[in-house]
Amino acid sequence: MKGLILSGGKGTRLRPITYTSAKQLVPVANKPVLFYAIEYLRDAGIHEVGIVVGDTRAEIRAAVGDGARWGVRVAYVEQPEPLGLAHAVKVAEPFLGRDRFVMILGDNVIEGGIAAYVQTFRRASCQALVILTPVADPQNFGVAELADGQIVRLVEKPRDPPSNLALVGIYMFDQHIFEAVNAIRPSARGELEITDAIQHLIDRGYAVEPVVHQGWWFDTGKMEDLLAVNRCLLETLEPRVEGRVDEASQLHGRVAIAPGAVVVHSVLRGPVSIGERTRVVDAYIGPFTSIGHDCVIEDCEIEHSIVMEHCRIVDVHHRLEDCLIGRNVEVSRSPLKPRAYKLMLGDNSKVGII
Ligand code: TTP
Repeated sequence: MKGLILSGGKGTRLRPITYTSAKQLVPVANKPVLFYAIEYLRDAGIHEVGIVVGDTRAEIRAAVGDGARWGVRVAYVEQPEPLGLAHAVKVAEPFLGRDRFVMILGDNVIEGGIAAYVQTFRRASCQALVILTPVADPQNFGVAELADGQIVRLVEKPRDPPSNLALVGIYMFDQHIFEAVNAIRPSARGELEITDAIQHLIDRGYAVEPVVHQGWWFDTGKMEDLLAVNRCLLETLEPRVEGRVDEASQLHGRVAIAPGAVVVHSVLRGPVSIGERTRVVDAYIGPFTSIGHDCVIEDCEIEHSIVMEHCRIVDVHHRLEDCLIGRNVEVSRSPLKPRAYKLMLGDNSKVGII
């Protein structure tokens, strides 16, 4: 069995972060989202992994390499344009061949991984297996209609949902999926939709098995979801102090401080993860915050946020909350007159001031 991780796409909902970098490389609990997908496959016994890449191919390749770090072999599949999830399957056919495979959206994170579901698919004789999960707002998802435990229909973002079971972005297929992706036409938004391809399998009488996932699952396409995943993952963080914490500082709850990090005269109320070589001085870092490596957090308060690497947040007098801060960002007090907010923000940035 092979694995296919989709890491192309446009990432419009995560601008401005995605103007300069791949959304699959945004860290949650200080690890890129994409790395979780690789680990799910490896933990399910899958060692041949294809990663579909688009505009951000160079960055993804630099971060993942040949997969040796995880004990898997990674091949890259070029998708010339992000023409849909089913299109990504189509361009991956030479890599996948006749093997059964697991496809994971590179921005999806699921509690407990997928080993049990892969085991079910290995034992089953079905042509596809889809993972469903109950959601409160099915109108925002691809939703399955079931009869006698079998899927009869899939609908994208239904106004009148036939169930509360959303399709998780993890699918298992055999080679019949190529017949489907070659038969379907682009949807109204111009993409080859994976839901249409799966519906095609159902309509042809192929067996599409559903399994229902009961833990948490997130598609991290938006900032709120990234903060939510960060929260869920930090809840299980192993507390450890590998950096240096001075006596004037207090650590409460689950706090992980990576090697080379320094904490001085600060309060860290976990769950909190601090990256390598980051300096936290005269600061309060509150629950559900991860700070990347090589940052300086000084004389400020921050909570429920993700700060990526090489940021400087210094001398900010109101607490920062619910923030997603990209790489190399500086937030500081300006000594220059006139006293004013001095901002340099990329397109589609969001700033909330008080
Ligand atoms: P989406 O989040 O559905 O699409 P997107 O990445 O273009 O984002 P947005 O809707 O905000 O513009 O994609 C899910 C995953 O699949 C994501 O990891 C990107 C990947 N993908 C591809 O690899 N190729 C594609 O053609 C598409 C549409 C997505």
